[in-house]
This record gives sequence, structure tokens and C-alpha cells, in this order.
Amino acid sequence: MQFLRRCPSLTRFGPLSPQRNEVAPAVALWTLRLSSSSSGSGSREDQRSYQHTRSPIWRHGLAGLLAGAGAVLAYSLHHHKAEQANVSGQTIGKGSTLPVFSQAEVAKHRSLDDGVWVTYQGNVYDITEFVAMHPGGDKILLAAGGALEPFWALYAVHNQEHVLELLSEYKVGLLSKEDLKKQQAVKSSDPYSSDPERHPALRVNSLKPFNAEPPPEILSDSYITPSALFFKRNHLPVPQVDPATYQLRVEGLPGGVLTLSLEDLKTRFPKHTVTATLQCAGNRRSEMNKVKQVKGLNWGIAAISNAKWSGARLKDVLLAAGYGPDVVQRARHVQFEGLDKDATGTSYGASIPLNKAVSEEGDVLLAYEMNGADIPQDHGFPVRVVVPGVVGARNVKWLGKIIVSSEESSSHWQQNDYKGFSPGTDWDTVDFKSAPAIQELPIQSAITAPADGGVVDRSDETLTVKGYAWSGGGREVVRVDVSLDGGKTWQVAQLKSSETGQAAEASPPPGRAWAWKLWEVTAPLPHHAQELEIICKAVDSSYNMQPDTVPPIWNLRGVLSNAWHRVKVSVRED
Ligand code: MTE
Repeated sequence: MQFLRRCPSLTRFGPLSPQRNEVAPAVALWTLRLSSSSSGSGSREDQRSYQHTRSPIWRHGLAGLLAGAGAVLAYSLHHHKAEQANVSGQTIGKGSTLPVFSQAEVAKHRSLDDGVWVTYQGNVYDITEFVAMHPGGDKILLAAGGALEPFWALYAVHNQEHVLELLSEYKVGLLSKEDLKKQQAVKSSDPYSSDPERHPALRVNSLKPFNAEPPPEILSDSYITPSALFFKRNHLPVPQVDPATYQLRVEGLPGGVLTLSLEDLKTRFPKHTVTATLQCAGNRRSEMNKVKQVKGLNWGIAAISNAKWSGARLKDVLLAAGYGPDVVQRARHVQFEGLDKDATGTSYGASIPLNKAVSEEGDVLLAYEMNGADIPQDHGFPVRVVVPGVVGARNVKWLGKIIVSSEESSSHWQQNDYKGFSPGTDWDTVDFKSAPAIQELPIQSAITAPADGGVVDRSDETLTVKGYAWSGGGREVVRVDVSLDGGKTWQVAQLKSSETGQAAEASPPPGRAWAWKLWEVTAPLPHHAQELEIICKAVDSSYNMQPDTVPPIWNLRGVLSNAWHRVKVSVRED
């Protein structure tokens, strides 16, 4: 139990209670129920040994089953794996005939007092112990007494072998054939069925929810990324929002609640346009995975894109809602809530510091246009927040609510995800409360061409290397160094910071360089080399530079991956 206290990712399911320190109440519940409800011939011996072979920590594994939170699921699976070795005894059902329950019997188990049962693909599971350990785990209770399928339709990530294996340990019986047939007849609707069409060139990291990045060589073709190719990072199904009835609520300011329609946003406030790069905290996570496995989508180098965003300034909207100097005394944060919801009705959410939101130089937008057209569905139609210089996670899409507050957003993604840790921190020791939420991102660059593993011809004599570079917090990229010989010698790349691809024009105002720079260098092929290790590294206006290797910045969630980017190509002799 000591371990549980150290793992705040679990607090999403409710605070620790005295019950969590005792296994006894949960076991008592189990035993009580066993005597009254076990109608079939399932072996009680099996069931008892099952109680004893499981540690309290292990039970927390189910936390991810309904919640859909990557980190929590990852955490649980990690522990499941780690503890599998210790789980000796039998599991229920092995070598025994399982009791058969009707749906009506399952439906009686919807509370801690009556037990919490769920069904999945004709099997009945008792997850009472898990819920007993998580008094705040009311999300799980939504499925109590019924089928898990509608929830898993929402979180396709759970429909994996190892999650099923984890659930199987809680199996107590089978659903009657008649009720299984009835369940199968009620097709659980796919919450992703109204997701938009996507460009076939995108490299898909996960289909439901949809997460994809463009091929790197296409990414550096255009300074402004075409919206269809802009990376897409969704945690939930894309909500369908009717622009005619759309309403944005602004709360927490002296003026009371301000409600704005899309038309209000477009007509009551000046339209402001900002070219800003968005980057996911997990961009280049795959390189961390090569050092040691991390938890999260295996992003390549293209979870980053650049667009022209237009909309109302957040500052202007907050002023209209009553923001004034007195507010600073009591508020520190601006929270955002999306209209995308999980199975429990909880929205995606995030927050940014108030000073970024209200600063004239912050350029935070409530954007209704992307690249000169309505924001596409995947990118937040009809309104999203664009927080230039800040990690993608805070750029909340499908914006429904803005709350000015003394507190950061309480959302999972602000509190228990998108934070950086030491390479020495693992899932056993991580304390999410100990680290600040990522806001401004560090200096970043990557090579988009040639591709890793490519081949160049010796007869070409020169090689052109291309890529992107960007830094968070409005810090301008001032230089990109490129090496063709593994870092022995370096060339300075030419930076491009306009749509026409011309060499860098007038610099943006200091501290407001929100957009990336594309870069290119053409250099002689090193003599006699049969393989080249090409490296790039960027420098920003604060002289921040990228770390040279991945291991010292490795972290368990694989965020903030910004080491020198390296690709290897072989040289084909004539
Ligand atoms: N906003 C909502 N409402 N829901 C989300 O899932 N994902 C966030 C952010 N805003 C997200 C969201 C994350 S993690 C990122 S990186 C960016 O949106 C991605 O924006 P994009 O899909 O427009 O590239």
C-alpha cells in the first residue's frame, strides 16, 4: 500500500481512503457475496486462492480499463507485468466449470454492497475489490451490472490482448447464452463513426482515437503545413458541433458568466492572425523507445506542424468578460474545456498561466480559422485555443468553456500527464505532483530528408539535407548546425521563415517567434565514407541548444524528446 501513496496517477480515481490501506473489507465483501450469489458449480477453493494470490497493488490494474487514460493504463499494465511473476496460484475458471449468470443476476451487482460485476464477450467479471480500493472510482460504476463493450468502443486502446488478460483474472462466470444473444443484438454504436475523413498520406499511430503524423519529407515541403497534412492528436472521438448553436462560456471574472456565439466571436472582437507551430509533447518519442520502452503513442519526428491561425484574441474576450488588474490578485490560471467527452462525460481540459493569456505579446487566440478556412473538424471546429510557443496539449480544441481561476485545470492531462521526469524515475517512484505541467517547449530540430536508412549516390558529390527547427516560448531559432560525419565537422544551414521559401526575412518581434524555421544545407559528400551519420542541432535566441543524446533526457512518458537528430544513410559507389 505504501506504493499506492506514491503513485498519484491513481488519484484520478479518487483520493486514498482508509479502506485503501486494508485489504480486509474488500475480501470480506467478496466472501459475503460468494456465499450468497455463487449459483453455479465454480470451485470455491479456486476462488479463495484467487483472493490470496493477488496483491492490493495489482488490483489497481483495472484503473485503466474504463478511464481511457494512457498513463494510468500504462501504469497498470506495467504493474500487471511486473507482478505476474508473483501471481502464483490458480486463476478462477482454470480447470473448473464456471457458473452461468443471467443478465438480471449480473444487474444486481451495481454497488460495493452488492458487488460490482461487469460482462465482456459473454464472460462475467467481479471487479468489486478494485472498486473497493478506489472509493472515487465512480467512472467504473457506470458499467456496473452491464456490458463493458460500449465503454471499450470509446477506448479502443483497451481492446488489446494484455488488457484482456488482465481482466481475465477477475472472471467469475459466464453470461447465459440467451442474454449474450440479446447483448450481441444491441450493436454498441461506434462513437468514432462521425470522425472526419483523413488524408491517406498520414501515418496513423492510432485509429480510435485518431492520431497521425505526415511523412517527414512532405512536412518540410511547405512552410505552412496544409491542414489535411497537419499532425492530428485526439484523445477522444471528434465531437460534432453545430456552428449555428455553438456557445462559448467564459467564467470566473467579475462580469459574471459571458456567453458568446460563433458570430459574436467573429463580429464583436477584432480578427487577429498568427502563424504558429504546434508540437505535441510526445514528438520524437520513438527515439526514447529505442533507449528503453516508454508509455505512449510511438510518434516519429512529425508530431509538429505550422499553420496560420485567425480568430479573436483571448485577451480581448477576457476583457469583455470583466478582466481587470484586480483579478490578478486572486487568479493565476486560465482553464479550457473541450466539447469532446469521455464515457463518463468528462471533457478534455488544460490550462495556461493567466499572464500568458492576457499579455499583449502572448498572442493567444480563440481561433476559428486555420490556413484561411474554417478550422477543420479534426483541429477543433468551430473554435480552438491557439497558445503560441506552448505545448500542443494546452491548445484545447472544440472549446466549450473558459474559466479564470486560482487553480490549474484539474484535468488528467494537466495533472497526471504531460510532465517531465528524471531518467531515474520509473512507474514505481513517479509522483506526478512533484513536476510542473509542461507549458513552453524546449529547442527542437529534426532532419526530414534524407530519410534514415536511405541511399545516396557517390556520383552526386554533394548532399542536400533538409529539416525543421523550432523553440517554445517565442524564442527564435537563430542557427542550425548540420554534420555529415557524425559530429566531427559542422556546417551552418540556411534558414527559411516564409511561405515563399526565401532566406529569413525580418525577424519577428523579440519573444514572439511562434513559427518554425525550415532549413536546408548542401554539402560535399565526405570522401571514402560508405555510411554517413547526419546530425542536426539548433540554437535559439536564448542560446539554448539541444542535448546530444537521448539517454540523459529519457523519461517514462517519452515527452520532451529533443536530442540532436541523427539519420544514417549509405553511399552507393558508382
Ligand atoms: N483538445 C481537445 N479538446 N481534445 C484533445 O484530445 N489534444 C491536445 C490538443 N488539444 C486535444 C486537444 C493535444 S495533446 C495536442 S498535441 C493538440 O491538441 C494537437 O492538435 P492538432 O490535432 O490540431 O494537431
